[in-house]
Amino acid sequence: MINANNIAELLNYIKKHKKIGNLRLNIKGKDIKITKSKKPDLVLQNDKIIFNIKISKILRQCCEIIIPLLTKNDNFLIGQIGQSLDGKIALNNGNSHYINEKESILYLHCLRAVCDGVLVGVNTVIKDNPLLTTRKIKGSSPVRLIIDPSLKLSNKYKIFKDNNQNIIFTNSNKQKKINNTLIVKFPKKNFTNNIFKYLKKTSFKNILVEGGPTTLSNFIEMKLLNYMQFIISPTLIGSGIDSLKLKPITNLKNAIRVENTISKLGKEIVMTLNLNS
Ligand SMILES: NC(=O)c1ccc[n+]([C@@H]2O[C@H](COP(=O)([O-])OP(=O)(O)OC[C@H]3O[C@@H](n4cnc5c(N)ncnc54)[C@H](OP(=O)(O)O)[C@@H]3O)[C@@H](O)[C@H]2O)c1
Repeated sequence: MINANNIAELLNYIKKHKKIGNLRLNIKGKDIKITKSKKPDLVLQNDKIIFNIKISKILRQCCEIIIPLLTKNDNFLIGQIGQSLDGKIALNNGNSHYINEKESILYLHCLRAVCDGVLVGVNTVIKDNPLLTTRKIKGSSPVRLIIDPSLKLSNKYKIFKDNNQNIIFTNSNKQKKINNTLIVKFPKKNFTNNIFKYLKKTSFKNILVEGGPTTLSNFIEMKLLNYMQFIISPTLIGSGIDSLKLKPITNLKNAIRVENTISKLGKEIVMTLNLNS
């Protein structure tokens, strides 16, 4: 059976062994082994996934979205945002609970489990006080990477109260001691590029950029993301806060139009833009 206890292990196994191309796996409890058995529990062949084992519909859908990313790439930077059908992440009064269904949280935790870093802008930490862990499933949590140019953050936020590691990128000269946190300073000029180079140099391979809109838009405009994923709830909100804040363009020829994949996730859809195409 594939469940919250072994889904992360399964995904990470596939990530590690993708060079084999086709995989035939038997899954025993938590241990996943390659098998020569005629009827394996899971077959992965040219991105087609066949489960001959019990798996919930939602975890199957999570696998169907994440496995192709893992088999196609050694490294990737993927952005994601949860939004309404009309492109909003919150009402104008800031109310954002809950635009997306709870299944999207499970999915996000699966995605975090295959990433070694999860990156957010400082406003997301201040407004949401998130944990950014994989607590809905049993998997290791990524290092939290926070862009905080003027070093506003302090120990009061949840991410500084557990034992997971954090890195804050800043321009500030303030001397602050923040729990479990490495503070990395770069000048304002070329700030984002320096962050990107640092992450490459320090061997981060799979990074999830989880928002908010300002951070994601900056990464998209700087062409640093390989994929951008929208978890779209079939909800119409009217006016509210946009999921992206891209600079205006004057000609539709300059719109970002790339290959995409559409997947179901419970009652919602996930659209993945391949920004390298
Ligand atoms: N629906 C979702 O999936 C989702 C996910 C995450 C967040 N959110 C929502 O998004 C909202 C926050 O989004 P936001 O757009 O206001 O802020 P944000 O992206 O979280 O943080 C933006 C701030 O981070 C710093 N920053 C980020 N990238 C930078 C870069 N490349 N260079 C320089 N500075 C950079 C800047 O800080 P300074 O202003 O200090 O210079 C910037 O103002 C929250 O309300 C949260 O609930 C929604």
